[in-house]
Amino acid sequence: MVFEILMTLTKVIWLLLPAYTPNNFAVILGGLKPMDFGKNFFDGRRILGDGKTFSGFFGGILGGILTANVQRIVEITFGVRIFSSLPFNEFFYLALALAFGSMFGDSMGSFLKRRLGFERGSRLPLVDQITFLIFALAFASLTKAFWELFGTVEVILALIITPILHLGVNFIAYKMKLKNVPW
Ligand code: CTP
Ligand code: MG
Repeated sequence: MVFEILMTLTKVIWLLLPAYTPNNFAVILGGLKPMDFGKNFFDGRRILGDGKTFSGFFGGILGGILTANVQRIVEITFGVRIFSSLPFNEFFYLALALAFGSMFGDSMGSFLKRRLGFERGSRLPLVDQITFLIFALAFASLTKAFWELFGTVEVILALIITPILHLGVNFIAYKMKLKNVPW
């Protein structure tokens, strides 16, 4: 029982790595031109803010796709069949959907934060930790591969563990001085 729960948890984290890693790539590769071109929305606040840049967005997507491909190679090397059980094109669409959905959701989270009056880099529990995942899963659900790899249990577990993992990973990034704040 405990073993099965741990196996399912590990599988969920593995499946979601292409959605988790884009933000870390964005932190490293971001910082150039803001995607809202510095413009304000009707409410006089920034549309997205200086924390959402083109280099971060696209670098993040490429980073997520890179992660998925490395995972696929690791699976093949160790004889595990999760991503590698899929034909390459199906696998690739899933990786793209997870990575794109993650960065898109991240931007939507910032859009929402700005509308609510939260400044760039401020902390907004749940929006910071779950918006990216909801969009990643939503885009992934458009792919055939999603329905082969994700079941109800996996999706529910993903929603529960992601905020916890997200806080943990950002705390490590903060300690490594990759991020200025621990969230
Ligand atoms: N980043 C980026 N482009 C993106 C996403 C992230 O350049 N599309 C970089 C930025 O340097 C950003 C950092 O990654 O500051 C951390 O990302 P995140 O926490 O999502 O942004 P915040 O600065 O906290 O801004 P917000 O309040 O809008 O979430
Ligand atoms: Mg932030």
